Amino acid sequence: MSTVESIDLQPEWGLSEFNPWDRRITEKNIWPIYRAMREKGPVVHSDALGGFWCVTRYQEVRAAALDHRTFSSRNALEIGKQNWSDRPKTRLIETDPPEHTRIRKAMQAPILQKRMSNFSEGMRESVTDLLRVIAEKKEFDIVADLAEPIPQEVVGRILGFDEATRRINRELVLRFVHSDLENSEATHADFWAFLIETVQDRLRHPGEDFLSELCTSEVDGKRFTEAELVGMLHGFALAGHHTAIDGISSMLKYASSDKVKKAYLADPSIGAQVVEETLRCDPPIHLEGRSTNVDTVVGGVEIPAGESVALLYASANHDDRQFENPEVFDISRGPVQHLAFGYGIHMCIGLHLARLEMNTVLEEMMRWFPSYRLAGEPENSGMVFGHHMGWESMPAVIE
Ligand code: HEM
Repeated sequence: MSTVESIDLQPEWGLSEFNPWDRRITEKNIWPIYRAMREKGPVVHSDALGGFWCVTRYQEVRAAALDHRTFSSRNALEIGKQNWSDRPKTRLIETDPPEHTRIRKAMQAPILQKRMSNFSEGMRESVTDLLRVIAEKKEFDIVADLAEPIPQEVVGRILGFDEATRRINRELVLRFVHSDLENSEATHADFWAFLIETVQDRLRHPGEDFLSELCTSEVDGKRFTEAELVGMLHGFALAGHHTAIDGISSMLKYASSDKVKKAYLADPSIGAQVVEETLRCDPPIHLEGRSTNVDTVVGGVEIPAGESVALLYASANHDDRQFENPEVFDISRGPVQHLAFGYGIHMCIGLHLARLEMNTVLEEMMRWFPSYRLAGEPENSGMVFGHHMGWESMPAVIE
């Protein structure tokens, strides 16, 4: 449920007070806020949350994401979350090389681009099972009835989660990503406890799944520690979940327009462009954090060592220095190098899986229900969990 307050935020708010945990941020006011920030400069300081720097423009965001020596990921998740309890920093997203290199290599093994054929058939089956139910209902919710179950099926299959575990994971993730700054610590603790329990169980009773494989595998002659395994599981169970739900939902919103549908039905090969333009226009993840290892200069602005920095991927995707008419969803742009998956060594490991999920849903939706349409105003989540934005519900109907 959205807790967005009615008081609207003016674009100027972003010039010195940008706080991604502020629940007044909505899909309507965020783009003028980012635009004002980009106009102010490539780097804007915020006094919120103890002070941090926001990198706003495409070129500078991309360059900073690429420069992991200057911009460490050790505190990637800490913007505003300084009060989180002490726990080992083993999540891929908050490690630097050499730990990062070792963990990433193991984690991405099953989801490399060349492995995608292992998923396509099962994924299509999952999607068509859901569409079969929708065919009976006629009126449905794109988020609850279609987008939400898919990532859980896919990730659950990789991890060897049974039905009950998938449900628990889904509930914990949704509660966690919808928590405010005040209760994020508690919801995170619950999710973390579930991950520890799952890893311990798999260490005791390894099966045929990829999590068991990670539990028993060695890299450079060393097994992963329990804390590392928990961090890895976190990457799949969380990062592979809410992001894909939001990507699928946004895509079906754009694809429901007559213009996009007509273009797709005339030439289904534009499906990949629909997916990429969705991710550029409506990136599920708006920003990620870094901290400076050394004094540095970005776009002429000096940032001292030891400071928190937010890379505003969503703002970069709407930078008109890079994209003409960035607020317009335009599938004729051709290949776009958006930053919805980040860039550099932390670029999303699940991007091939996410693209496959989105492409499969689009293909099957257009095959089954080419005349589907939205039936009412979709409910946006506003900015949640200090870095992402998606959908609570999206009523739709088939004829
Ligand atoms: C549309 C869907 C998705 C979007 C928009 C997305 C977005 C992102 C972004 C922006 C980053 C970069 C973080 C940074 O710069 O610090 C990232 C990293 C990551 N993503 Fe995704 N993601 C998606 C789907 C997935 C899926 C399906 C999985 C796993 C199955 C996944 C797992 C991860 C992991 C583990 C990382 C950390 C990578 C690293 O630090 O090296 N994501 N994702």
